[in-house]
Amino acid sequence: MSKVICPGSFNPITLGHLNLFERCSKLFDEVVVAVTPNSAKTYLVTAEQRAAWIARATAHLPNVKVDVCTGLLAEYAVKNGAVALVKGLRNPQDMDIESQMYFGNREISGGRIDTVFLPTDERYTYLSSTIVRDIAGYGGEIRSFVPDCVAEEIAAAYLRRP
Ligand code: PNS
Repeated sequence: MSKVICPGSFNPITLGHLNLFERCSKLFDEVVVAVTPNSAKTYLVTAEQRAAWIARATAHLPNVKVDVCTGLLAEYAVKNGAVALVKGLRNPQDMDIESQMYFGNREISGGRIDTVFLPTDERYTYLSSTIVRDIAGYGGEIRSFVPDCVAEEIAAAYLRRP
């Protein structure tokens, strides 16, 4: 039984994230999408709200569950019986950052947690939560960047009000 964790801020979920979850659901028996804090970032929207959007967008994937991880990711992965983390890579810059975390997570877990890297689908290599937040902040249209079923709520949550 292969259980993996897809961790990230998902601030908010994008179509690139959803594509990764869909591919993981075919590759592994069980997939846990873990909304996890990144100490370098601040969040306008709670982890629980971001997790709720992911749960709605992945409702068609029976082996995908959503959770909130509040501490060290490697410890969370061991505690939950996962064999690996799965990360999507858009470009070489992503690989630079992720390779550091790969070694860190492997060390923290005493070698028990590996990381699998999947290339981002070419349709989404330009896409990031940052650009979604930016467009939504100005009241722009985000429907081509985020799952349709949560687009309206995401647009409202990130709209900058004077
Ligand atoms: O989507 P992000 O913000 O790029 O995801 C980064 C994240 C949340 C996966 C990373 O910051 C993380 O693992 N945070 C949990 C704290 C932790 O375990 N840090 C040690 C990493 S070696």
